[in-house]
Amino acid sequence: MGKKRLFLINGPNLNMLGKREPDTYGKKSLDDVVTLVEQAAADFGYEVTSFQSNHEGDLVDWIQRAEEEAEGIIINPAAYTHTSIALRDAISAISKPVVEIHISNVHERESFRHISMLASVCSGQVVGFGIDGYRLAALGMIQKIESEGRNHS
Ligand code: DQA
Repeated sequence: MGKKRLFLINGPNLNMLGKREPDTYGKKSLDDVVTLVEQAAADFGYEVTSFQSNHEGDLVDWIQRAEEEAEGIIINPAAYTHTSIALRDAISAISKPVVEIHISNVHERESFRHISMLASVCSGQVVGFGIDGYRLAALGMIQKIESEGRNHS
């Protein structure tokens, strides 16, 4: 059997991390985020496949792929969080756990960011800890996968 794998999925405009609104999202890049998650996951024997897209349908495709290819998904759906029933339905369609992460504290921002179409079909949500939230999401996800594996054996 191959190594256990997590998908790290980032939505629109997160390719511009580090350059985009640094007061809100910080100065670190998406590559820095990927490294952070890879390191956290490696401590537990997990590998990470990272994907970023500005296109909703591509994100749907990758959520669906996780059913066959990953143990779970860490996703920052970015603006699609607040609008996308397609992403929500994709998460509902798979059996693998999904953790939603936001770099900023969406709850102290505009009211349209307070709504998540996805949160109620995710296993958990990490909000407002900057890019360190991705590491926290990875740890929470791995803990969940490992504890469920034990319960089933
Ligand atoms: C974000 C918050 C969203 O409201 C926003 O559209 C983003 C980034 C975050 O990580 O804080 O693009 O998901």
